[in-house]
Amino acid sequence: MLEFPCHHLLGPGCCTLLLVSCGYALQPLPSCDGTPNLSPLLTPTVTPLSSVPNGDSYLLANDTTNYVYLAKVRGTAYEMGYAQGQLFKDELQQQILNLEAIYPENVRDALDTFGIPKSVVQMMPDWLVTQVGKVLLDVNWIVASQWIPQRYADEMRGIADASGIAYERIRRANLLPELIQAHCTVLGAWGNATSDGKLYHLRALDWDAFAPINQYPIIVIYEPSEEGSQVFANINYLGWIGTLTSISKIGISVGEKVMLPRVGSSDYPIWPTVTYFGKPWQFTLRDTIQFATSLADVSSILTATHRTMRIHGGWGSAPDHSFRGMNFASNFVELFDDKNYTHNNEVSHPQMDGVFYFDKHVQPSGDQCLKNIITPFYESGSINEETMYRDIVGGHQTGDNMYVVMKPETGEIWMASSEYGKPVKAYQRSPIYINLSNFW
Ligand SMILES: *[C@@H]1O[C@H](CO)[C@@H](O)[C@H](O)[C@H]1NC(C)=O
Ligand SMILES: *[C@@H]1O[C@H](CO)[C@@H](O)[C@H](O)[C@H]1NC(C)=O
Ligand SMILES: *[C@@H]1O[C@H](CO)[C@@H](O)[C@H](O)[C@H]1NC(C)=O
Ligand SMILES: *[C@@H]1O[C@H](CO)[C@@H](O)[C@H](O)[C@H]1NC(C)=O
Repeated sequence: MLEFPCHHLLGPGCCTLLLVSCGYALQPLPSCDGTPNLSPLLTPTVTPLSSVPNGDSYLLANDTTNYVYLAKVRGTAYEMGYAQGQLFKDELQQQILNLEAIYPENVRDALDTFGIPKSVVQMMPDWLVTQVGKVLLDVNWIVASQWIPQRYADEMRGIADASGIAYERIRRANLLPELIQAHCTVLGAWGNATSDGKLYHLRALDWDAFAPINQYPIIVIYEPSEEGSQVFANINYLGWIGTLTSISKIGISVGEKVMLPRVGSSDYPIWPTVTYFGKPWQFTLRDTIQFATSLADVSSILTATHRTMRIHGGWGSAPDHSFRGMNFASNFVELFDDKNYTHNNEVSHPQMDGVFYFDKHVQPSGDQCLKNIITPFYESGSINEETMYRDIVGGHQTGDNMYVVMKPETGEIWMASSEYGKPVKAYQRSPIYINLSNFW
């Protein structure tokens, strides 16, 4: 297995060390640390919470620990932000503290990637790291602002105005992901690889499993009045408006994963570079979901964007009935289907018709776990949502913070986040089933 030191927030080295000690009674597959997640599927009860001129909110809960909030907002970006601020005025006061509570750890890791010696970073008290982090996030906003579409500033301004929280606090929190792209697993399966021929898309988020922002997992459904927009759902935590996982009503879906190029390798067409002078990756991804109506659109949006960070991604598309994996950096974009991924190899990553994936490790990983899990399902053409939330998530121990299985052709999703206030990772938890078509 190729591993790197923990120089990013989610250094795979740290994950792997931790995972080795997590045993289960069931026997894991060869090369896998985990076993299937057998927690039962839950269908939540939908409770309306509140209505304001541009939005409505709901709690989707099975019990006091298994829940996700849902908001539907419409109008201009400012109006949609304002509605979120009104609907979750009380929750946002707590959530901004939850978001700020993750600064010290995340900023320490970011400082490390900026080349500040670990010994120095360790000597800095949390309050100082937080102060430095705020300055970095403010500088990031300044240098990137000419590439950030006005809709993001407007939406954050709306949230701030309605909630009474300072705009700068909301803005800093929303740029944090630019410093700390997460690990994760990306997998798409479609056509004769799946049990009903439909497309399934797994996004498993491996990142700071117990960040207290998991108090408020939320699906925000946007109905933007802006021309050319699709209705789309952002599956995230309250207060974060960029994309971790998003899916549109017409069935374009996305999830990402950090790219850590292997020093001295030629894994990419050119050495991937990074810049802060461009459109933050979370906004780039969200705009593909708001505006694309096909994979060709996704490709042209990505190509035309002033990209910043190094990330991998996956896009599902109901209109194309297909899926693309992606590598992007500030200096190139590459998309792959099930046939032309450049790092297929027989041992760890064989070519499979109707399947594309990046496992949770540094790419190309050489790890065989994910291949071992999906091969029998692939060979019998029976990959479905269960393969993803039960076998992959549990067996590969991926999605410690959150996992989402999406079915773009029907708008159904199955998701879980880590448990608030308890050390239970998302991949150990019950999937919550939501038919987004009931809310679009
Ligand atoms: C929880 O989910 C189970 C399984 O779908 C369902 O039978 C039960 O009614 C749900 N309970 C509530 C309170 O939503
Ligand atoms: C792989 O094939 C897709 C079309 O299915 C194409 O859009 C993409 O550019 C190809 N990628 C490479 C690296 O050739
Ligand atoms: C899916 O179709 C391809 C050719 O189109 C074939 O090679 C493969 O064996 C099929 N898979 C299954 C599970 O039938
Ligand atoms: C999802 O909801 C839509 C709209 O209510 C409904 O037509 C569809 O049958 C539902 N899908 C499933 C799988 O239940």
